[in-house]
Amino acid sequence: MEIMRILLRPVHNWVWLDTARRARKLLGFAETEAEGGRDLVRAAEVTPDPLLRRLFFLHARDEQRHAELFRWRGATLLRTHSGASRSAYRADWLAPGERGLDDLRIEELEGGALLAFLHLSEKSAARDFASYRDVLERDPSTRAVFEEVLRDEAYHMNYTLSQLVRVSPRRHRYLLWRARLSRLWKGYLRLAIAFAGLISGLVLTILYFTLLVPFGYLAKRAARRESTGWQPVSSERNTSLDRQY
Ligand SMILES: [Fe+2]
Ligand SMILES: [Fe+2]
Repeated sequence: MEIMRILLRPVHNWVWLDTARRARKLLGFAETEAEGGRDLVRAAEVTPDPLLRRLFFLHARDEQRHAELFRWRGATLLRTHSGASRSAYRADWLAPGERGLDDLRIEELEGGALLAFLHLSEKSAARDFASYRDVLERDPSTRAVFEEVLRDEAYHMNYTLSQLVRVSPRRHRYLLWRARLSRLWKGYLRLAIAFAGLISGLVLTILYFTLLVPFGYLAKRAARRESTGWQPVSSERNTSLDRQY
């Protein structure tokens, strides 16, 4: 994983370099953190385990705080940024935020499965946020936000694993593998959708410059044939106006 972090460093450098993109990404992260907080409140409501309920509520409060921190920093960057952005592209598939429960239906998950998903999600968020923190040397305030969020993510990662072992002492490995495979499948779908978008953009660009060229040429030729200025109307069309066309 360390090698991936080193390999992705130039990519993350590029993603976080542009101030406006940085601001938009932080605002996007704020939304997913808030959504994660709401999912955890729901998880706390449906769990029959009193300890898990308490931990999920505390976790939800943390995610809400992360949302506020990201929103505050994103909004500050947008306010102070004066120049035009070099790109409107947010590159979310290159530098994602915390994914939370990734659109899972909390009611359909048993306690152990939910904890396994949460653990993996927190683990990847902690890894990603550490990578972003490392490339933000030139923006200490944003870096400090990641630093603070990262501390909580590491705690979330640890408590979800210890609770998973507590509630499913015999099945925790199996549940972790199942959650891993499900995340892998979702990751593949996300990549496939991004790739399909790229290919369709490429095909439409090629069509624009090939298929539309003859039409453009014909339209220009027709326009050249049209004489400019006011033209006398032919006698059969020059009758009194008693209908619309
Ligand atoms: Fe978070
Ligand atoms: Fe978290």
